Amino acid sequence: MATVSTTDVFQKNLFAGRVLLCSGGGSGICRGMTEAMVRHGAKAVIVSRTLSKLEKAAKEMREATGGDVFPVAADVRKPEQVEQAVAKAIEKFGRIDYLINGAAGNFLAPFENLSYNAFRTVIEIDLLGTFNLTKATLEHLKASKGAIINVSATLHYKGMPFVQHAGAAKAAIDALTKHWAVELGPYGIRVNGIAPGPIAATEGIKRVVGENMTQESIPVQRTGEIEDIAQSTVFLFSQGASYITGVTLTVDGGEWLTSYPPGYPTSVLKPTHSKL
Ligand code: HXC
Repeated sequence: MATVSTTDVFQKNLFAGRVLLCSGGGSGICRGMTEAMVRHGAKAVIVSRTLSKLEKAAKEMREATGGDVFPVAADVRKPEQVEQAVAKAIEKFGRIDYLINGAAGNFLAPFENLSYNAFRTVIEIDLLGTFNLTKATLEHLKASKGAIINVSATLHYKGMPFVQHAGAAKAAIDALTKHWAVELGPYGIRVNGIAPGPIAATEGIKRVVGENMTQESIPVQRTGEIEDIAQSTVFLFSQGASYITGVTLTVDGGEWLTSYPPGYPTSVLKPTHSKL
């Protein structure tokens, strides 16, 4: 079954008057998360390194939704750039209610080929970027009693080879989600994570899984779509999730839980005693 739009499930004006800041919002999953929030009335600021890409994405999102999307270039690794980006967001929209930490880097590299700089680069983008942007946004989230979603992954749940840099960063991000949920809860700020599984047509899937993903190995028997992550985003930011904090929601059709014998196509793994 194809994924339905968030507008089929949630009220159209759910986030009217609210403002989202999203790192990595110019492409892939985070762009989908941003566009969904804008479809439901939020204004959005998208942040990443390359202004020309952001401007193109913002224009396309404005045209698709009729909403307001503002591009701001910043490298999330650089605290001073991050603080300037937050200042520009406040200058433009006056408040920040929701933060998505989504900027991430990843590639397949065996330990032997992973340079010191390569490991540090991914840790800096994913983990320090998440810390930097949250730190720079904190006072505004306190003022709005806002909410945060940290974008995680399922890479580190079982120790996938060749992605230790991204897996280590995402594991630490999952820890931050819990620490911040506890520490920021009394300010009225909820902090959750979303861990997308294999999502079609994304940079992550191109780099990590390539053409090798088969739908039959996913329990719900279909590939994930960006809209699946958008649905979870709208829910977690909505008042319907007001008692949910500190949770990283895995959105992967059950993919990471599967455990087939090595080398077995799932189609030949049939039960020997079954009435089916
Ligand atoms: C080995 C690599 C490499 C590769 C970069 N490096 N790509 N090493 N294999 N494919 C090394 C470089 O050689 C260099 O080390 C160091 O990493 C820094 O690379 P630079 O290109 O100089 O840095 P930078 O311009 O900052 O870009 C780094 C990057 C980029 C952002 C990590 O390479 C990248 O991967 N961009 C794609 C972003 C992306 O994929 N986003 C989606 C993430 S999906 P040396 O030693 O040579 O100096 C995700 C979840 C996946 O996170 C979930 C899937 C299921």
